[in-house]
Amino acid sequence: MDKFIVEKSGPLRGEVITDGAKNAVLPIIAATVLTGEKCVIENVPYLKDVEIMLKLLETLGARTSFSEKEKKIIVDGGKILNNSLPYELVKKIRASFLFAGPLLSRFGKVKIQMPGGCPIGVRPVDLHLKGFSLLGAEIKQEHGNIEISSPKIKGNNIYLDFPSVGATENIIMASVMAEGETYISNCSVEPEIINLADFLNKMGAKVFGAGTDNIKIIGVKELFGTAHKIIPDRIEAGTFMIGAVITKGDVTIKNVVRDHLRPVIAKLKDMNVDIEEKENMLRVRCDRELVNTDIKTLPFPGFPTDMQAQFMSLMAVTNGTGIINETIFENRFMHVGELNRMGADIKVESKSAIIKGVSKLTGTQVKATDLRAGAALILSALVAEGETEISDIYHIERGYYRIEEKFKKLGAKIKKL
Ligand code: EPZ
Repeated sequence: MDKFIVEKSGPLRGEVITDGAKNAVLPIIAATVLTGEKCVIENVPYLKDVEIMLKLLETLGARTSFSEKEKKIIVDGGKILNNSLPYELVKKIRASFLFAGPLLSRFGKVKIQMPGGCPIGVRPVDLHLKGFSLLGAEIKQEHGNIEISSPKIKGNNIYLDFPSVGATENIIMASVMAEGETYISNCSVEPEIINLADFLNKMGAKVFGAGTDNIKIIGVKELFGTAHKIIPDRIEAGTFMIGAVITKGDVTIKNVVRDHLRPVIAKLKDMNVDIEEKENMLRVRCDRELVNTDIKTLPFPGFPTDMQAQFMSLMAVTNGTGIINETIFENRFMHVGELNRMGADIKVESKSAIIKGVSKLTGTQVKATDLRAGAALILSALVAEGETEISDIYHIERGYYRIEEKFKKLGAKIKKL
């Protein structure tokens, strides 16, 4: 299995260019099912998760091409005839469940498996299913399979008990060709929802209010092929911001949408970090003593749960005590054990972690337990004495394109074995 070997590195310096957002491209790949025409998607990083979603599209009958160099995907959904997804691929990626809404829209029926949990939590899909049934679908669940069918999808008013990103995306995609209007209230307002709605509207859909907690969809007859550009990955950008701060470096992160990073910018400034904002780039400098802070993860525009682990790495080596309150996932502290093995002083009390800053960490063998925890371990390893060996890095490569090369270019001592 591949590993990262990371040695204590000096201050990171230079520029890094953010790639397209994983969490924007995955639902948009699923949305290509909604038309038999060709779709071209640009600014797509060659990630494992993207590859698996394209493989799923091909099992449905679509033809796809993906150029790593051009960061471009072409999907021809004309031959999609199949509406059931194979378990051996579904179990690899939870985002496969995002095919449910589009397949229901296009074929009136879909057979798919209950997505499994993952290290960070049970991750139920009850809100997705509630939306589908309110749109008139009949849902049969047995032996872990779900069959969702509806000869005619009728628009309806849907209230989400929690502003779930995936449920919002799936319900929008299930209602774009419904009869009548659908209103989703208390829905997710993440930037990735806006990028999906932009894509759907270019296909001829009528989705209004994306980015607010009330979305209106007027059903249309048919959707058409289009071209689209994926927004920059705010979590990748945030990860490199922490890299600059934790190594007391000076890094310019290019190709960012600053408004997608307000909570991360604000909390780093609270800690006394110097952040210069320009056009679509951020210059992050840290040459001063930092003070610890507290964070509470919330749905957008609150502090993103996907930045929690990376921020914990920084808090672990910052003077003073900080508290992290993780309100989104019930088990997203898997990185605490690994950080403590490197000498961090972190205690978990139910949904909170109390982090006492220590003066140094020491390198050892650690394991990436999930995507963002893996990124957090790279960040800690950059400042830990000696050498750190990070295993199970496939978790990291699901969501970060060539992360070791990007860090190396900034002066990090990191290599992949
Ligand atoms: C998306 O997951 C992201 N993944 C996650 O990123 C991200 O952490 C999460 O949103 C929150 O921002 C993709 O976009 C592919 P949710 P999703 O539905 O849609 C509960 C990463 O690191 N819930 O908003 O699965 C759920 O249990 C990944 O890139 C229900 O109870 O997140 C969780 O506690 C990790 N019932 C909370 O809502 C449901 O039907 C947030 O889940 C659905 C969700």
